[in-house]
Amino acid sequence: MSVDLGGTNFRVCSVHLNGDSTFNLTYNKVAIPRELMLAKTSKELFGFLAKQIELFLKEHHEEHFEAHQRRRKSAKPGEDYETEDIFQLGFTFSFPVQQLGINKGNLIRWTKGFDIPDAIGKDVCALLQQEIDLLHLPVKVAALVNDTVGTLMARSYAAPGKTSTLIGAIFGTGTNGAYVEKITNLQKPVDGQYDKSTGEMVINSEWGSFDNQLNVLPNTPYDKKLDEDSVNPGIQIFEKRVSGMFLGEITRLAVLDLYEKPSLSLFKDVSSSTNNGKAATRVGEGSGLFQQWGLDSSLMSIAAADTTPELSTLRKELESQLQIRSATVEEARAFKDISYAVGRRSARLSAVALGSIVMQSGRLKETKGEPVDIGADGSLVEHYPSFRDMIYEAFNKIDGIGAEGTERIRIGIAKDGSGVGAALIALVAANMEKRGTLDELAALKNKATQKLAGAIPSVGESTTLV
Ligand code: BGC
Repeated sequence: MSVDLGGTNFRVCSVHLNGDSTFNLTYNKVAIPRELMLAKTSKELFGFLAKQIELFLKEHHEEHFEAHQRRRKSAKPGEDYETEDIFQLGFTFSFPVQQLGINKGNLIRWTKGFDIPDAIGKDVCALLQQEIDLLHLPVKVAALVNDTVGTLMARSYAAPGKTSTLIGAIFGTGTNGAYVEKITNLQKPVDGQYDKSTGEMVINSEWGSFDNQLNVLPNTPYDKKLDEDSVNPGIQIFEKRVSGMFLGEITRLAVLDLYEKPSLSLFKDVSSSTNNGKAATRVGEGSGLFQQWGLDSSLMSIAAADTTPELSTLRKELESQLQIRSATVEEARAFKDISYAVGRRSARLSAVALGSIVMQSGRLKETKGEPVDIGADGSLVEHYPSFRDMIYEAFNKIDGIGAEGTERIRIGIAKDGSGVGAALIALVAANMEKRGTLDELAALKNKATQKLAGAIPSVGESTTLV
């Protein structure tokens, strides 16, 4: 099983792996209520998550759920009903954590509009497990997974051919990438015990926080305003230029700026110039154009997809979504151009993040001819027209990749990747635990055999065994 706390939705899934790179997935999805993103205590959010798990189990795994509840009620003291038929849960938690173990990690900071100070520094797996236990659910939080790591896992399972996937990336409400690095390249000390046998480790880059100091990133007045008015000014600066949560807001601020310029007549009634020289506005007072977050990024996808000469779909949407009445073709085109510039900048910055990892991996040089595989998920790659093509176009321009390198880079959509990936990791974690127990038992057996062997008297001797 897996749950996925992303930026917008919470998903609960159960996954059946068919073992042939296909899988069956059952899931429920709910929008996370805004007040929970800004809750006073973490208990409010994690209690809600556990409740959703309970509803999912009742709906899709009723028999299993009821059987567990019956066993719990009829269990005699000391009887171990709790570990029987437990769902191993992969917890996709798409925020930066200091990971301390397979199912242990402390929250470093919130991103994407979440702000619950009480949770910072706490182990998010323990917070979820506590709430699950309060509801007596047959669920164990077995693995903590970032959505990018889940996407990497899922794509590795489902990717065509034998090539191993290099990167799992999310371009959705937030953005981030995880990739496979050689352990010898690690420069940061890694605490704790980990398996070095493969010589590789998955790194969660948290590239959303790249260049918070703004040494190289573009910084328009709209980027500045967006950051100042956000819940976390000064951080996630790369993400604030790339991901879906922010693109609509950047576009809104740019369009609003033009709207407010007296020298322009964008979305104003030009024919009423007799009206004291002031053009009458055609934008409703309650329009999202005047409200923070009032322009949904999905409108940008509509703008990009409308290639009709009259831009009729876009003009209709401007009216229904933003109360912009009777927009002319020229006005709609201006909107489309601004929106395209914001979308294209996002795709080009995304190419920088992906391209730098591809180059760092050395795979373009080392594995001649083979594709360099990337799994990607999120609303932008899925719904923004040509987002992937704009990334490829930008790869072409990067020294060290160029046309030849671009040909070899393959970005595959790993839809629902993080849910499947987290379930895969939970499965591996559970197997490791089982193997660990078996190893321990084997070690114990060995020790006992040796002790016994030492204690068993040779022929003619005698001893007392205790
Ligand atoms: C978070 C990442 C996450 C990304 C995509 C970012 O805001 O910091 O951990 O992977 O969003 O969901």
